[in-house]
Formats: sequence, structure tokens, C-alpha cells
Amino acid sequence: MTHTPKARAALSSLPAYVPGARPDGRQMWKLSSNENPAPTPPAVLAALAGAASIVNRYPDMAMTALTEAIATFHGVRTEQIAVGNGSVAVIEDLLQAYCAEGDEVIFPWRSFEAYPICVQVTGATGVPVPLRPDGRHDLPALAAAATTRTKVIILCSPNNPTGPTLSEAELREFLGAVPNSVLVALDEAYIEYVRADDAVDGKALLGEYPNLVTLRTFSKAYGLAGLRVGYAIGDPGVLAPVRAAGTPFGVNTLAQQAAIAALSVSDSALETVAETVAERERVLGAVRAAGWDVPDAQGNFFWLELGASTPSFVEAANRRGILVRGFGSEGVRISIGEPEANDIVIELLTELSKR
Ligand SMILES: Cc1ncc(COP(=O)(O)O)c(C=O)c1O
Repeated sequence: MTHTPKARAALSSLPAYVPGARPDGRQMWKLSSNENPAPTPPAVLAALAGAASIVNRYPDMAMTALTEAIATFHGVRTEQIAVGNGSVAVIEDLLQAYCAEGDEVIFPWRSFEAYPICVQVTGATGVPVPLRPDGRHDLPALAAAATTRTKVIILCSPNNPTGPTLSEAELREFLGAVPNSVLVALDEAYIEYVRADDAVDGKALLGEYPNLVTLRTFSKAYGLAGLRVGYAIGDPGVLAPVRAAGTPFGVNTLAQQAAIAALSVSDSALETVAETVAERERVLGAVRAAGWDVPDAQGNFFWLELGASTPSFVEAANRRGILVRGFGSEGVRISIGEPEANDIVIELLTELSKR
């Protein structure tokens, strides 16, 4: 009888992470991964070139300069920061630090598809709570789902893929309703794109709620998705175990140097964000005028609930040279990209609305 290594049972039923479609050799506009279409700033390119000659050495494991740069940027102490290989890795570290088999992690659904995967890998049980019909979190239902086994609740503002934010008042009420012993991880990957007046900025609430942690990333506004740097800001005592759970040397030298440089020219990143926001408003204005019902879109993407027509829409977009992200027979998420790409999206949706 042959014996083969057996992975943990939890891994046999992991949902697959479906990455946004990539061009298959044809010239395609990639609106499938919520990326920043702006060119990489010269300061970041220079940092990468400078760091390229020292990759024979291990990175700074403590990420000292990067952590200091992030802390200074946000006006917090370095102990309030935990950096990882993308904010997905920080979510993993956080879940590793706080959850094990028998524990529960609550998250809204549909939301960022990494959540159920990261939860299941820890052995904890994911508790998805359906969104409201308008694509917003159902906060009373999320709070009501908490049990004595709940260790972490993940919230996402703006929610990927539907787009709306949480308001500050809503989050305060929610934090008042859940036990202080539950860690609330607020994923704000797209916060720089938010323009809603009442939207929450998790950082502003950290002092009042030590069980709140906000997750940020260099992948979106700062255009470093390919380098993988994200971080959490929160209470030093809460984040120390998150840092301890991180992969040693998990953020490479190029990524550390590029992220420091990106922060040093943050104004230019925010200019690219402003351009994307202007494009978002242009696209949404046209698409809504054509009769489409689009939930409030506060990130660099918008959501169309197309139901059974989702696959045929994805195909139609592909034929026009646009890659979008379809979700089964639920709907499609379309990133805001280059103006030429956005024009094609408007054209396609305007035509389809007339059929
Ligand atoms: C809500 C949300 N959180 C986190 C991430 C991942 O960010 P990172 O590239 O920092 O791992 C994404 C990426 O699409 C996202 O949509």
C-alpha cells in the first residue's frame, strides 16, 4: 500500500481565487483587476533601479524605513503599523494570529474573494453575511451573526466588487454593537478613491476602538500592484501578533524601496486617483443615463448585477477588446481604466441598453 502525504481537510474544499483575466496576446484593455492605469512615477522607477543592484542581500526584515515612512505619512507610531506582501498577506497574518479551528470569522458576501480562502486556510469557519440588495453591507445582520466563537469580522469599504462605502455613523454603531474582544478588520484598499461625504475613514476611529484595524495597500492608488505591499494600522498590542505571524523577509527589497518612493511623491499618486475619479463619474453618468442601475461606486470600479446575462456580457466586452471580471451568474465588475477603454465601456453599455 502506498502512503501519500495528506494535506489538511480544510484545504480540499478551498474556493479558488479567480484572478482578473489577462490579455491572451491580443491588444486588450484590462479592466478586470481594479489596477491603476497611470504610468509608474519616475521617483519609483529610480528607487527600483537603485535597489536592483542589492538584491543579493536579504531585505530589511523589520522593514524599518518603510514602516517609519508609513507611520510618518499617517501621523501614527511605528508600533501601530504591520506591513506585508500585499494587504492580502496582512489579512492572512491577521487571521493566523487570531483564528484557529473552531473559531468563526464573519465577512460580508459578496465581497473580496480572498476573504473566504484566507479564513478557510486557518481552519476557522467563515460566516458570510449577504449584502443588501443595493450592494451595501448589512451591518445589523453582520453584528447579529457574532457568537462566542467569533474572533474576527472583516468589513470592506468601499466594497469590492459592488462599490459602496460604510458611513462613519454606521461603523460607530456597529463597533458599539460587537464585543470589544472581536477584532474588526476594515479593508480600505480603495479609500483614496472615496468621495462620499459621509464615508468612514477607519484611521480616524482607531483611538476610540482598539479592536479596530484598518487595512491599506500600495496596489491601487499608488500603482504598485505588481510589487505587493500592504499594511494594517491599529493598536500596537493588537498588531504585534500580526507582525509575528508574518513571513520572515516577506516584503522584498524592491517593493520596500518602491513603496517608500511612492509615499515621497504621494501627491502625484493622488493626482492619478483624481483622474480616475473624474473618469468614474463620467462613465457612471453615461451608463446611468443609458438606464443601467449601478450601485454607488466609490472605488476604481463599478458593478452591474446582470444575473444570467453575465457570461454573455463578458464575451461581448471581450469582443470589443475589454477584459472585465464576471462573477458566475451574479454580475460583472468593471474597473475604471484609460479614457479610451472607458469610452468603449460606455459605447457597449449604451448599445446594449437599447436592445
Ligand atoms: C478589497 C480588497 N482588499 C485587498 C486587495 C488586495 O490588495 P493587495 O494587492 O494589497 O494584496 C484587493 C485587491 O483587489 C481588494 O479589492
